[in-house]
Amino acid sequence: MNVHIGQLKPEHAGEVMTIQRAAYLQEARRYGAWDLPPLVETLDQIRDHLADGTPALGAFSGPRLVGSVRSRVDGERMEVARLSVAPDVQGGGVGRRLLEAISEHAPDDVKVVWLFTGAESEGNIAFYESAGFVRVSEHLDAVGIRCVTLEQKVI
Ligand SMILES: CC(C)(COP(=O)(O)OP(=O)(O)OC[C@H]1O[C@@H](n2cnc3c(N)ncnc32)[C@H](O)[C@@H]1OP(=O)(O)O)[C@@H](O)C(=O)NCCC(=O)NCCS
Repeated sequence: MNVHIGQLKPEHAGEVMTIQRAAYLQEARRYGAWDLPPLVETLDQIRDHLADGTPALGAFSGPRLVGSVRSRVDGERMEVARLSVAPDVQGGGVGRRLLEAISEHAPDDVKVVWLFTGAESEGNIAFYESAGFVRVSEHLDAVGIRCVTLEQKVI
């Protein structure tokens, strides 16, 4: 799919919320958990995150936002968060491009990019492993879902 990757700004918060909710609905259905953090995050929380200066990128098809990803930076580690692709364009390479782009936008000090996903989300895990991420640990999240953490060294 022909998309342009660009920086997300606070004014994109509404579109980000729409895509994130649509994308994470499939994860909610998989786990029977309708209060996953990406589904209950408020517009103000998204807007604040987009204003905090950490890398946040959108995939645009013309004027339409079709994917988004945000990050949290803590010293030498950057968490990739809220990777979301609109359901009708999933499987077209947009997620891969956003994942590569957010790693490329890591601040210079960052040595490791990491993320977590549900342990039963085999498609997501395969997606991250095919992008070079490796499994490092498992934990239970706040709502009791078993999660896998994967990470990748920044070259
Ligand atoms: C996970 C997600 C971001 C992937 O984005 P996408 O645009 O659909 O993925 P891509 O088209 O870039 O796929 C890249 C590669 O991963 C593979 N892949 C992606 N999703 C997959 C799945 N569910 N099962 C198996 N493989 C998958 C693709 O086949 C492709 O492989 P290839 O490069 O060998 O052809 C997207 O499906 C999504 O928004 N899901 C819902 C929200 C979510 O779960 N976010 C991640 C939470 S950690």
